[in-house]
Amino acid sequence: MEFEQLKNYFINIKHSLKSFDDDEFNYFCNTVEDTKTIIREKKRNDYEDVMTIAKKLNNLGASLDAAEILYYDYLYYLKKDDYINAYRNVSGIISNGLLGADSPFFLNFLNEIIENIGNNSKYMPFLGFLYNIKGIYVGSIHGDYETSKYYYKKAITICEKYNPEEFKNITRREISFLYLIKNNYADANLQILYNSGYNKKLVDESLEYLKCPEKISDRYRISNRITLAEFLIFCGKEKEGKEILNKLDMKGSPVYKGWIKETYKKIRANTLYFKQKYADALELSLEYFSETIQSEQVIQEQISLNFYCNMLLKILSKEKNGLSYRKKKFFINNLLRILHKKDWYYGRDHSREVRDLSVKIGEKFKLKQNKMEILTLGALFHDIGKLNIPWFTLNKTSPITEIDRDLLKSHCDKGGAFLDRLELNNISYIAKNHHERLNGSGYPLGTNKMDLITQIVAVADIYTAATTPNRKYRKAKDADTMIKELMMYKDNMFEGNIIDTFVAYLKQGM
Ligand SMILES: [Fe+2]
Ligand SMILES: [Fe+2]
Repeated sequence: MEFEQLKNYFINIKHSLKSFDDDEFNYFCNTVEDTKTIIREKKRNDYEDVMTIAKKLNNLGASLDAAEILYYDYLYYLKKDDYINAYRNVSGIISNGLLGADSPFFLNFLNEIIENIGNNSKYMPFLGFLYNIKGIYVGSIHGDYETSKYYYKKAITICEKYNPEEFKNITRREISFLYLIKNNYADANLQILYNSGYNKKLVDESLEYLKCPEKISDRYRISNRITLAEFLIFCGKEKEGKEILNKLDMKGSPVYKGWIKETYKKIRANTLYFKQKYADALELSLEYFSETIQSEQVIQEQISLNFYCNMLLKILSKEKNGLSYRKKKFFINNLLRILHKKDWYYGRDHSREVRDLSVKIGEKFKLKQNKMEILTLGALFHDIGKLNIPWFTLNKTSPITEIDRDLLKSHCDKGGAFLDRLELNNISYIAKNHHERLNGSGYPLGTNKMDLITQIVAVADIYTAATTPNRKYRKAKDADTMIKELMMYKDNMFEGNIIDTFVAYLKQGM
């Protein structure tokens, strides 16, 4: 296919990827791969508009592939010593690859490029973009708002050095971008306030940062007003805040309307929390999370997942006896339900199947009750880190690239960190280590240390995944084949007696 044909194919996709049937989805995956190959290897011309394809892919939820395509485009310009065009791509690459997908590859790329540009004062304004992205990354994605403020400040200092013309000459962007960074700074303060309660100094500082002229582009102005409204409502000036939101709502596009609706949910959830109506607050933040998971944007999912978890943690610390068992179970079940929706190609409840099989094996080992509890919950949450992997990367049917693989592998560390945040430290190591192998051939560390419980979960995971028919490989392996395969892992990937116990149990059921 020619480049133009490829471009038209993407542009013409009207509905969401998730509503594709299997054939359409396969065709889409293959076309994405063809596009990457063409941009990476084939001869191409300067005028070919790679950015349009990347934007479309990102809107469809293939954010990592969008970043990859722009990355090849960046290499192309770099080779021609066209640094301005190369760096112009960079903020697109990082936005898609890091904010859209939270990919380790693009995190390294960001750090490298910050160093490169830092050594060449000619391209300094680009650093303003990059520090802003780094701020969003550590704040919105990883919940570290103090550090994010540090990066926003750096970005603001750089951008303020330039006059509008000079700035535009280098970056081809409006200087009003500065107000977006200031807005982000104020928003980081707001998140801190949501977590720790009213603080006059932070409120005053934020209101100062939110001062901005009427005449800036719509996108920047609207995000500025939404943050301001949130502040006013947080400070008890409900009427003023709502007035601002209503005004925006009237003439806004559907995107902004959705944005405003989400803001209302966040504000209401926080108000309920401050009124100590904890169960209602949690339910509303779940509603907010379930809605954003329907969107294609990982960053939106991340922000709302953070919000949902923060709400739970805040409530746990306030309630003397913690949440009721019923509420905790509700929280956990909802996370798993959302994960199950995301891991679309399995089409079955992978987490619970792994738990059921693990428990059966745990019983054969006569594990004590506290060990059994760790095994049960650890197995149930072993893949929870996949909540942080974009839907398209999880489900694509075309061969995955190194960059995809890096991201997929990160579900172990992401899952472990997530469980640590939920103060489930006694099971987080299972999520971290369930892809390790005793002979060091596993990931993420390649360590040869796995305890009995992790090995049980790992073998149950291998068996369950391989015997489940899915959209990716279509055919499932039968139990017989899998038993033979497991026998080959004996005394190298896993301890011999664990494999023997599994095999004995599986043969019983045949
Ligand atoms: Fe996994
Ligand atoms: Fe798994």
